[in-house]
Amino acid sequence: MKIGVFDSGAGGLSVSRAIERALPEHEVIFRNDAKHVPYGTRSPDEVLGFVLPILQSLVDDGCVVIVIACNTVSTTLIKELRERFTVPLVAVEPMVKPAAQLTKSGVIAVCATPATLASKRYAWLKQAYATDITILEPDCSDWSQLIEDRQIDEQKIADTLRDVLVANADVIVLGCTHYHWIEDEIITVARGRATVLHPEQPVIRQLKRVLAQLA
Ligand code: DGL
Repeated sequence: MKIGVFDSGAGGLSVSRAIERALPEHEVIFRNDAKHVPYGTRSPDEVLGFVLPILQSLVDDGCVVIVIACNTVSTTLIKELRERFTVPLVAVEPMVKPAAQLTKSGVIAVCATPATLASKRYAWLKQAYATDITILEPDCSDWSQLIEDRQIDEQKIADTLRDVLVANADVIVLGCTHYHWIEDEIITVARGRATVLHPEQPVIRQLKRVLAQLA
């Protein structure tokens, strides 16, 4: 079967590759929006206009399921997208619930785009799963652009992470798929002090469930 994977930019490519490795019997078609990336500083209405034709092109190309490998899109627009498309949409979102279950210090850090952090869905996740813990939201607003431009400022990223470690965070949630590309650097800074979570494996599990229903 054909699986579509969408992100604004390079972030979804890491998710797409993980899906290819996990499900080699299926064809994975990855599409991004090189013209408008990054999405994380744009309004949901603007992003909706960009996303619709790209998802439609994946449907037109025969994808039976589409993975929204973009926290920014899934936390701000998934409801509208599910109303418009009949193919199942499997979506990433910040792993607030697993982080809240995992933390021992009662402090977690969520690294995500400004749009994700401002979204109703993210507010709902915090309200539903994490009212009894402290959530730090460090400023990562330029990270996806830096990753797109391959101009990662390792020192700046390490400084940002050290601040949350000093504030006692013992779980760091990668709430933007672009950050999967700097997971190794993040783990190096966090080693021995915090666990780093991202949604590739949960998304693959959900995708397998959806594919089994479609078979
Ligand atoms: N990779 C995306 C995410 O997971 C979007 C990053 C961006 O375009 O700003 O949020």
